[in-house]
Amino acid sequence: TTYNVGVLIGSLSKDSINRRLFTALARLAPSADLRLAEVPIRDLPMYNRDLDSALPEEVTAFKAAIEASDAVILITPEYNRSIPGALKNALDWASRPWGSNSLAGKPSAVIGTSIGAIGTAVAQQHLRSILSFLNSPELSQPEAYIQTVPGLITDEGEVTNESTAEFLLNWLKAVHTHADKVALAAAA
Ligand code: FNR
Repeated sequence: TTYNVGVLIGSLSKDSINRRLFTALARLAPSADLRLAEVPIRDLPMYNRDLDSALPEEVTAFKAAIEASDAVILITPEYNRSIPGALKNALDWASRPWGSNSLAGKPSAVIGTSIGAIGTAVAQQHLRSILSFLNSPELSQPEAYIQTVPGLITDEGEVTNESTAEFLLNWLKAVHTHADKVALAAAA
């Protein structure tokens, strides 16, 4: 089965290295029988529970896009050893209003890139803790900490380092297997 995967990109920067990683993953995805589509977070208002009773249009569209996806990939930068506020804000919206958590039961996988050698590891741990609370079954292994070096991913999304390309494709295949397992368990 080809799965449709919604992708949250944690950076709002137009020349984000995490957005660049998204282009690489989207290009590799068909070889793992996945179709990747961004679920944009940039136009979401700041979460405020006063808005829960009349959700802004951007929020409704955001939640519907997650719910329509077979699985979700979260690509996170690391900001001050955690996830960016914009991504936390998006996850807070995904979780609300109470009783309509869009991520409940939705298979998820986390990945991220930074220039630093530990490649978003600390931010990803924070993200896993949030996803766990939101009852989203996460891909545990392989973990994916990608260190960006100049030229790693071309403007067209091609990964220039053979072993990194192979690693990313295998990671995407693991996302597919994970989505399969969650779907099977749900049907049982
Ligand atoms: C950073 N950066 C960073 N990198 C890291 O590895 N660990 C960290 O804790 C931080 N902290 C941090 C805080 C803030 C506010 C900024 C703006 C940046 C550097 C970060 O990895 C780098 O800017 C990446 O390019 C951010 O990802 P995007 O936006 O390019 O996808």
